Formats: sequence, C-alpha cells, structure tokens
Amino acid sequence: MSSQSPNFITDSSLLPKHIAIIMDGNGRWAQSRGKARMFGHKAGVDAVKKTVSAANRLGIQVLTLFAFSSENWRRSEEEVRLLMELFVTVLGREIKQLHKNSVRLKVIGDTSRFSNSLQDKIASAEALTANNIGLILNVAANYGGQWDILQAMQKLASQVERGVLSAEQLTEAKISAQLTTGHVPDVDLMIRTSGECRISNFMLWQVAYAELYFTEQFWPDFNEASLTDAIAWYLNRERRFGCTGEQIQALLPVKK
Ligand code: IPE
Ligand code: IPE
Ligand code: MG
Repeated sequence: MSSQSPNFITDSSLLPKHIAIIMDGNGRWAQSRGKARMFGHKAGVDAVKKTVSAANRLGIQVLTLFAFSSENWRRSEEEVRLLMELFVTVLGREIKQLHKNSVRLKVIGDTSRFSNSLQDKIASAEALTANNIGLILNVAANYGGQWDILQAMQKLASQVERGVLSAEQLTEAKISAQLTTGHVPDVDLMIRTSGECRISNFMLWQVAYAELYFTEQFWPDFNEASLTDAIAWYLNRERRFGCTGEQIQALLPVKK
C-alpha cells in the first residue's frame, strides 16, 4: 500500500475488494450553479479521475462506476448525444494515463447500442489494458441489473438447449460467472451520491451482501476524502452474512 494511504487503514485485507458507485447528482450540481446539466457531467469526469486514482493508490481491487444506465436513454436526445460525445472524448483522452497506472478497464453493459466508433474505442481500450495488474475499473455503460441477469440466463439457457448443462446443474456460481462481472468478486461496498437511496437497476445480483452507503454529496464534489470516509464507514460495519453478531465476534482475532 502506498505511503499516502490514510493512516486509519492499518490492515489492507479488511478493505472492500470491490467498490461500486452510483455517480448521481451531476445535473443538480450544475443547476445549483445556474449552469446547464452538461456542465455537471463534465465536472463529474474530474471526480471520476480523482476517485479512480484514489482507489488505485489505496489498493482497492475492483471499482465499478455506473456511468449510463439502460434507462438513461429516456433523457433528452441532446443530453444523450452529449453524454456519448463526452464518453468518447474522455476515453480517448484518459486511456494512456490509465494504462500507465496499470488500470485494467472493462466496459460492462450492452454496448451494441453505441456508435461503431465508440464500440471500437472501447474494444481497443480494453485490449490495451487487458494484461494490467492494478485496479480493475469496470465502467457500466448502457447497463441494467435486470438486463445483466437476463443475458446471463440466455447464455445458460443456450447451454441447456445444447445439452452441455442440465437444469439441475445450474448453481449460483454458474450464474455469477455469466454476469458481465464474472471476472470480479461481488460488491462489498456500494456508494450512491446525491442523497437518493435507491439502486436504480444497478448490479442487482452482485450487491446481495454489499454494505450500502448513501451520501448527500453530489457526484462532482466527490473526491479522495469522500472515498476514504465511505471506506472508514465500511470498516466500522459488522458484516454478518446471516450469522449472529456473537458468531462473528468469535471468529475475530482477540484484540490485544
Ligand atoms: C448522474 O447524474 C449521471 C448520469 C446519470 C449520466 P444525473 O444526471 O442523474 O444528475 P441528477 O440526478 O439529475 O442531478
Ligand atoms: C443512475 O442515476 C444511473 C447513473 C448514475 C448512471 P439516475 O439519475 O439515472 O437514477 P434515477 O433515475 O434517479 O433513479
Ligand atoms: Mg440522477
């Protein structure tokens, strides 16, 4: 772990392995400054950069950022178009730096609805960083949790159809493996900014035992300190996974 890590983290094995963030509140952040929504999305990119670099420095294994939901197509044509343009620009501008920092980028979501040039940019960014061993950065774009489960089910159903798998052989692990997040563990800590307390069809299966952290901060104001606050909160939770508090305490090393 870097020497710049906040000193409250004394045991990196306690850190959340997988942090997922619903980056919400760009529009309200801009509107509260009398600016157009797009101004907030652009400021949101700076918060993404700060968060990715902080997560990387802290030694977090996986960061999944919700960038565009399958429902966000319902926004005005102009906002959708500008968001797509921003996505292309940011990907082109930042990929070299991400690669230099050994980040492995993966876009999760139904990218088939994106323009060919965006799909090409995504494919080459993923290919460039595929062998990196630093932070795994999943960007959820045209992503929906129900869609993710559906596409996993379709793959499994086709295996059953082909006789490769029987219905009885289906397990939770096999479903997890077919989700777009099959390459990473389930979410430990889910953060949502902007005061909204809902999941908005984000990773429904993968948050089964995540700790859910809601902050009033709008996404463009999120920074390294916000991330460490969320991690500090997480470190104070007792994760029980169905057991009692006493059972968990008995598993913990005796405090000196
Ligand atoms: C999140 O901010 C970014 C996207 C969904 C693309 P919003 O654009 O939802 O901001 P608010 O919620 O309207 O303030
Ligand atoms: C969720 O935010 C999607 C992203 C952050 C990309 P929204 O702002 O779209 O969610 P709702 O519509 O308020 O639930
Ligand atoms: Mg919103």
